[in-house]
Amino acid sequence: MMNIAIDGPAGAGKSTIAKLVAKEKGYIYVDTGAMYRSIALYMIRNNVNIEDDAAIKNACDEISIDISYEAGSQQVYLNGENVSVEIRQEQVGNMASKVAAKPVVREKLLQLQRDLAAANNVVMDGRDIGTFVLPNANLKIYLTASVEARANRRYKELVEKGGNPDLEQIKADIEQRDYQDMNRDIAPLKQAEDAVYLDSSNMDINQVVQSIIDKINCL
Ligand code: DC
Repeated sequence: MMNIAIDGPAGAGKSTIAKLVAKEKGYIYVDTGAMYRSIALYMIRNNVNIEDDAAIKNACDEISIDISYEAGSQQVYLNGENVSVEIRQEQVGNMASKVAAKPVVREKLLQLQRDLAAANNVVMDGRDIGTFVLPNANLKIYLTASVEARANRRYKELVEKGGNPDLEQIKADIEQRDYQDMNRDIAPLKQAEDAVYLDSSNMDINQVVQSIIDKINCL
């Protein structure tokens, strides 16, 4: 099976890029962030105290996460309910970054991610795919961009949706998320030694996609 790992910080464009690469190559796009977000949604809905390890463990025992593909797009089910839209909220993303630091949560999702990669050609994006989940991936990409570039993209996206966002607040949120994801004890975000480093600050989507496709075609 072909396994392509794309890791990098929030807002670097991983999911947009990974989706386009997967489509071009006929692979499945696996969004692992959506799995952490679904667990986070459960914690929010059930007011689980995430400082309490026993409460987190109990909650994890009650959670089942399933992935399916509808018209090529990944759907994530939390205990049978399709939560693909609800998990996109900012608040859920922030909680996901917190619960993703818990070993019991990571353990729960590891096998699901490895099983998907063992059974399919995948482009999988996340934070620890190249370093931990798929150490033998055929190609590993570390996709990043400056905080300014990522904040500006997010700002534009929100303006296009008709919002009135605060650029400084977006920057602060991105910095906080980077800090949490890079400084946790377990599977922190970092570049795998054998990953290709791509800084997309001054590249457009097509350039990034093309450079990854070129690398896949050389494998
Ligand atoms: O990629 P995203 O923003 O949807 O991910 C949400 C959070 O989940 C992110 O802040 C960190 C966590 N995450 C992780 O720890 N490991 C992954 N492989 C994917 C996401």
